[in-house]
Amino acid sequence: MEGADPGMNYDKIDKKARKVLQSNDRGLYTVPTKGLYPYQWNWDSAFAAWGFSVFDAKRAWAELETLFQGQWDTGMVPHIVFHKQSFGYFPGPDVWDINRVPHTSGISQPPIAATMARAVYEADKRYGRIHMELLYGRLVSWHRWWMKNRVENGMVCITHPWESGRDNALDWDAALVGVDTSEVGEYHRSDTDHVDASMRPSKLDYDRYVALLQLSKASDWNERVIADKSPFRVADCGMTFMFLRACRDLLHIAAEFDMGTDEIEGWIFDLKQGVKSHWNEARGHYDSVNVRTGAFTNTLTSASFLNWYAGIRDDRQLKHLHRILDQVQYGIPSLDPDNPHFDELRYWRGPVWGMMNAIIGIGLAETGHTVLAERLRKDTQKLIAEHGFYEYFNPVDGAAAGGGEFTWTAAIWLTWASPHAKGRF
Ligand code: GLC
Repeated sequence: MEGADPGMNYDKIDKKARKVLQSNDRGLYTVPTKGLYPYQWNWDSAFAAWGFSVFDAKRAWAELETLFQGQWDTGMVPHIVFHKQSFGYFPGPDVWDINRVPHTSGISQPPIAATMARAVYEADKRYGRIHMELLYGRLVSWHRWWMKNRVENGMVCITHPWESGRDNALDWDAALVGVDTSEVGEYHRSDTDHVDASMRPSKLDYDRYVALLQLSKASDWNERVIADKSPFRVADCGMTFMFLRACRDLLHIAAEFDMGTDEIEGWIFDLKQGVKSHWNEARGHYDSVNVRTGAFTNTLTSASFLNWYAGIRDDRQLKHLHRILDQVQYGIPSLDPDNPHFDELRYWRGPVWGMMNAIIGIGLAETGHTVLAERLRKDTQKLIAEHGFYEYFNPVDGAAAGGGEFTWTAAIWLTWASPHAKGRF
């Protein structure tokens, strides 16, 4: 409890966090939040499983297993699984139009499930053993899908901004310019029915998202055709770091369960090489790369600071980390506050996200930067304790933004940010 605010009733906040998970629970999966996101999202569910593992191992495994019901024969695990029709979300199952059950979207999302499955397993090995054994093959085939279709020069490429989990990040702007929106047609986006438009991506961004969806659909979701045709292909440093981390966790599981490790070791080798290509020497930070032009995106974001989480002990970015922690109050915002596009309330262009703070902090703690890690944890603790379980926050004054009662914010509270949390995987 050291450093916690004595005036705060943390037991009550812990209880509330469980309640948030329970109220977003739809039986065998959780929605990120009521209204705005009415289906099962990929990396949200991985965080949810980690959150459930604190008090209900059975429910934690169900979350992951239900997510993998959406896995395609190719191995791809979609970014949304539409278990049950819900109105008022765009683009819903009819727009993606994927001919399988359960219905899904056609793109993926940050592959953190192996990392979270390991955490869930380690929280209760006796209960989790059989579940881990059953999920393992599915995790391997998902990772194989990334390696085969998306890893270029050791870097993980996305074919749609939504795959990154950082929907409207500045990193994608240059690559999106080439997307033709003339055929998009009319549609009604429903996010702005729930949240103020000033906090969401712009209309032009949305048109481009829809155009990319239509392009992949017209290619019949064939990865090779998409790779040839799409104007948008970006090697996302956040994805490379999260995938590298997940491969290390998968390797750990493989070794513990006496499964073969050679293939996974090969992936880790390739990805570690790829990390070097993400280093933007001119600007002194990790960066994403527009594969179509070979140019860096020249944006320092919260994803740049995931190298420690990936097990890359490279401290060249510490000066940026210190600077940013001093500039804002509540951790690492989604965009460098010194960037002229920094917009403290616009989604992935400035706000701070609790779960990003959590994984950056865990990486720092694991690589010996314990003081920094603790600072990040305390800042996030204060943020959530004082402002609630929101989707994201203004990093300068902590004002809550986006959806309320958010699953991953509650999950990282229970696992990491609460004074009663273990604070690690
Ligand atoms: C938004 C976020 C994405 C998240 C989803 C559901 O699209 O950018 O990362 O998975 O909402 O919470």
